[in-house]
Amino acid sequence: MARPRVLSGVQPTGALHLGNWLGAIRNWVDLQKSHETFFCVVDLHAITVPHDPAQLAEDTLKTAALYLACGIDPELSTVFVQSQVGAHSELCWLLNCVTPLNWLERMIQFKEKAVKQGDQVSVGLLDYPVLMAADILLYGADLVPVGEDQKQHLELARDIAQQRINSRFGKKDETGEPIPVLTVPEPLILKAGARVMSLTDGNSKMSKSDPNEGSRINLLDPPELIVKKVKRAKTDPTMGLEFGNQERPEAENLLSLYALLSGKGMEAAAQECASMGWGTFKPLLAEVAVEALRPLQQRYGELRADPGHLNDVLRQGQARASAVAQATLERVRHALGFLPGPTAT
Ligand code: TYM
Repeated sequence: MARPRVLSGVQPTGALHLGNWLGAIRNWVDLQKSHETFFCVVDLHAITVPHDPAQLAEDTLKTAALYLACGIDPELSTVFVQSQVGAHSELCWLLNCVTPLNWLERMIQFKEKAVKQGDQVSVGLLDYPVLMAADILLYGADLVPVGEDQKQHLELARDIAQQRINSRFGKKDETGEPIPVLTVPEPLILKAGARVMSLTDGNSKMSKSDPNEGSRINLLDPPELIVKKVKRAKTDPTMGLEFGNQERPEAENLLSLYALLSGKGMEAAAQECASMGWGTFKPLLAEVAVEALRPLQQRYGELRADPGHLNDVLRQGQARASAVAQATLERVRHALGFLPGPTAT
């Protein structure tokens, strides 16, 4: 039997941080053996906010290399760059024409990002979730492993697939059962790590776009910088770390990071740190962060020293992804009543 499909991606904007790793990429690694996995670097998403053309290609390669450094195995997974598979843009257009504008206007991330850009906000930023739906639906993904912040976008992808394509354009078989045009995906949001918070504010999420560098630990930060960022992380006046106290978001966040990065788990970490002062806890957290990232950083260095290998991986990924994506695109074109596309004639 065919294995269930997985697709996910990260934007190559700025540096990848602990939130991207613990909330998403780490979970991808575990799915590779049990699922058919597709992981793309979503570079078309990266230009929905102003970007630097001199940086985009390098950031794209960096992100792809980080996937591999985090344990994505190109023998098991298809690793590719979104813009190198033309079907993403084409399906996005087809989906645009059936998606109500007000579904997009209520997206929380759009509203948050649009505020920052005032009257410079692009149509692409509004349309971003439709492109994301295209990414997912092209591969017939059953599961999409993401952090908590992507939940609303996943719901939109499900609604587009089910309400706007399958129920409007799907045919029925001879017994009257609907034949879906697109697979309706499920989000996979694991509780641990799904919402890593900023080091400088336990109430806002760790984010690539936070102007304060000290708010996040990037996967490629050198050990001294990690130590410095942890040392400066916001704390509170209470002694002892604990989970579940809403008055203490920083304690919750830093203790979760310690539990995840040390591999000790929530219970053991909570016990160990229950009466620990911040002055003892912080060096411990810095140490587990440095140690957790060390092997990843070493593999990253090796991968970047061998650009030929990375290019081969991406070329092979592009070919595999294109074949799957084109087949879906052709099915949607057919359902919507188009003549066959260029690759089907
Ligand atoms: P992006 O690039 O912002 O983030 C990549 C992944 O990291 C997760 N994440 C977090 N998880 C926990 N705590 C945090 N502080 C944190 N910050 C980010 C995100 O939830 C995400 O899983 N729209 C997507 C990219 C995308 C995509 C897709 C994802 C485009 N097409 C198709 C899945 C499937 C985004 O901007 O993620």
